[in-house]
Amino acid sequence: MRIIFIGPPGAGKGTQAKKLVDLLGIPHLSTGDLLRGVKDQDSAVAKWVARHLDAGVLAPDHLVMRIVAQRLESRDCAKGCLFDGFPRTLIQAQLLDEHLQRTNHTIDLVLELDVDRRLLLERLVKRASIEHRVDDNERTIKARLQVYDAQTSPLLEFYNKRGLLKKIDGMQSPDEVFSSIRHEVLACQS
Ligand code: AP5
Ligand code: MG
Repeated sequence: MRIIFIGPPGAGKGTQAKKLVDLLGIPHLSTGDLLRGVKDQDSAVAKWVARHLDAGVLAPDHLVMRIVAQRLESRDCAKGCLFDGFPRTLIQAQLLDEHLQRTNHTIDLVLELDVDRRLLLERLVKRASIEHRVDDNERTIKARLQVYDAQTSPLLEFYNKRGLLKKIDGMQSPDEVFSSIRHEVLACQS
């Protein structure tokens, strides 16, 4: 199965994708994690990626697609994967479609995690004190939310038109959110 998680920063994409890994036995592919991995390397590309991540703006589409394509070639992705934070622009969605067509695969389900702005801020400010992510500060969180509205939210209509989109109430407890997701995944599999 290939499932895409869409939602603003703090919506719970990572939290829920990690839970779903055990249920489906397919890997979690977070472009945020992959890019943070690139950022930690000692290279010119790493510095370039760091500038985007630290400012809360999107890394270039073709670079992200190249990193994703490389990850998809691994054997553990043969049966599918959980896309967390990818695609994030219409161009990335088109690049992903082209890649999946070439490899004879399809997207099975797109899950939108819906959470109020106030709650997103609360969660990210709380996480900042625990995980120390460089982009979890008030200014960058604002930028990330704006980027989501302008560049990522159009994907909801894009996938809705294809009948792939399911909206999940992300404001429940993590276990309740997971239970809603599980319901959609099982419905999709049957
Ligand atoms: P990325 O790492 O994807 O970050 P993000 O989208 O900003 O989202 P977060 O990881 O902050 O939130 P999440 O939805 O995963 O929520 P989480 O489960 O952690 O991207 C970072 C950067 O990388 C981007 O800004 C960009 O620069 C770059 N990038 C990434 N992908 C890219 C792409 N495709 N193209 C270009 N650039 C890209 O939960 C948040 C907190 O809330 C946690 O503390 C959690 O414990 C808590 N929580 C979760 N669920 C609940 C719940 N139900 N109730 C209470 N608390 C909860
Ligand atoms: Mg995340």
